[in-house]
Amino acid sequence: MNPLSDTFGRLHDNLRLSVTDRCNIRCFYCMPEHDVKYVPHPEVLRFEEIERFARIAVSLGVRKLRITGGEPLVRRDLHVLARKLSAIPGVEDLALTTNGVLLAEQAKELYEAGLRRINVHLDTLDRERFIQITRRDDLAKVLAGIDRALELGFGPVKLNAVAVKGLVEPDIVPLARFARERGIEVRYIEFMPLDAQGLWDKNKVLLADDILKILAGEIGPLEALPDPDPRAPALEYRFSDGVGKIGFIASVSRPFCLNCNRIRLTADGMLRYCLFAIEETDIKGPMRRGASDGEIAAIIAETVRAKWLGHEINRAGFVPPPRPMHAIGG
Ligand code: 5AD
Ligand code: SF4
Repeated sequence: MNPLSDTFGRLHDNLRLSVTDRCNIRCFYCMPEHDVKYVPHPEVLRFEEIERFARIAVSLGVRKLRITGGEPLVRRDLHVLARKLSAIPGVEDLALTTNGVLLAEQAKELYEAGLRRINVHLDTLDRERFIQITRRDDLAKVLAGIDRALELGFGPVKLNAVAVKGLVEPDIVPLARFARERGIEVRYIEFMPLDAQGLWDKNKVLLADDILKILAGEIGPLEALPDPDPRAPALEYRFSDGVGKIGFIASVSRPFCLNCNRIRLTADGMLRYCLFAIEETDIKGPMRRGASDGEIAAIIAETVRAKWLGHEINRAGFVPPPRPMHAIGG
């Protein structure tokens, strides 16, 4: 039996590693504007600790790793970690999720470290709206980062846009055109109740179907793509003219918990079996107290076995997780 199967028969081969809860911008659906409470430095896992955890997880069947944050590129010398992770035997896929602000500066060393897959978070091509969403004036840097990554040969490069109703509708078409011109995919992530200020409400989620209607009306018809990996959360569509792909992470309107294959390690060394989990398992404590690899492996397997069926965003009694997105790692 796969050691990372849970009581619902789901196998976990996908690990997301948050390397920091800090960020250089302040997207409102993730972070508060002021007085962000960060994990103190000594509590943040060192690269050696993250690598050790990843190795143990890989020995249990994990095959895909993704580096997330906060914003991972604010962690100094991230390429050093990327190199360590891509060298772990058994890792088939290493990816990075970034807001792109520091990407132009770091893309080359990340490429040389073996990283190829990048998701850049970008909601809008409009400078004013970028400032409104992120409370920073860094759109030009993000665009330069995307260009640099494409120039260096990263692939696939994907854009992540958070779908907030009443806000990003004017950005849907420009973003899709931008991606079509560059041969990259845009993924819309339905706004989830993970913001730091409790702003989420179901009526603020721009649903995948609404976005499809906007795109079909303005650009042209789309067709659903057959799912190459039924456990990947994105639903994918292609424009019928063959140019450009659109994906949806429709966590609210079409939850994919039944297929979930992910576990997450927070920057301060807590293991989470779900983005929305209320409970977490301490990894850093045992690690720093000298636990063996076997002991850590047993803790990971036990956490996966305790995994619940899924989040209940759509139920009346839904309780959001105690940490906002930047402190969990997307
Ligand atoms: N809802 C949905 N997606 C979010 N992200 C951040 N906060 C939220 C939220 N409240 C996304 C960002 C980031 C990814 C890790 O998670 O697009 O790229
Ligand atoms: Fe930073 Fe990403 Fe959160 Fe935006 S969504 S504030 S880029 S961590």
